[in-house]
Amino acid sequence: MKRIIPILMTVLMFAMLTACGSNSQPGTSSAPAETTDLTADAASEEPETMTEGTTEETAEDSSLSSEEASTAVTEAETAAHSDVLVAFFSATGTTKGVAERIASVTGGNLYEILAAEPYSSDDLNYNDQSSRTTKEQNDKSVRPEIGSGDLSLEGFTTVYLGFPIWWGEEPRILDTFVEKYNFEGITVIPFCTSGSSGIGRSGSNMEALAGTGTWLEGKRFDGDVTEEELQSWIEGLK
Ligand SMILES: Cc1cc2nc3c(=O)[nH]c(=O)nc-3n(C[C@H](O)[C@H](O)[C@H](O)COP(=O)(O)O)c2cc1C
Repeated sequence: MKRIIPILMTVLMFAMLTACGSNSQPGTSSAPAETTDLTADAASEEPETMTEGTTEETAEDSSLSSEEASTAVTEAETAAHSDVLVAFFSATGTTKGVAERIASVTGGNLYEILAAEPYSSDDLNYNDQSSRTTKEQNDKSVRPEIGSGDLSLEGFTTVYLGFPIWWGEEPRILDTFVEKYNFEGITVIPFCTSGSSGIGRSGSNMEALAGTGTWLEGKRFDGDVTEEELQSWIEGLK
């Protein structure tokens, strides 16, 4: 019996140790494992998803310069069926508003003529004899580069062509535009906004430079011209 007791104690201790080990091991490992998993999930899913989303959004936002955004809009809109195009240049937004109203009235497609090198407020300072616009308007041979995407005039039969009056006539970038495209078979209708000057010789200047297209007499509008007023002008053109 005395011999059996140490053997039994040894067996009992071994059994206890084994039992303790098997209890504590999963307990110790499962809790941190769970925490680790959650942390990994949290780190690899939520923040990553948010980061990805944020990164994508930021990339999208920042990669879309006004020029690209305009081109994207243009491509989307020219996909719509219409034989009317409303192409315009607008340095400070006045002509753009009128162009949008003409597009709304006619169901036409909008195309914004953007300068490859945008005009800054210094550039637009007409009180400065050496500002970019003063120099450009004083030199009829200047052709500012267009930054907006190339346009296909195929399928268009009418082009409304809008611009602000600069020093009594069309900005030179309009000359770049009309020389770039072929208006064969297209009726071109110039329109402009200004402080007070009329459209003057802008239409005939551009018609001569284009050399193609049937050019109608253009018209000057106030920036706040209504759709109803534009509608009656358009009906009068027919
Ligand atoms: C460089 C420059 C020259 C201008 N020259 C004239 C002008 O000769 N006659 C006039 O009535 N307005 C003139 N303006 C005013 C613009 O024609 C007018 O503010 C126009 O509506 C601006 O259109 P936008 O916002 O589409 O650029 C001139 C503006 C600038 C920036």
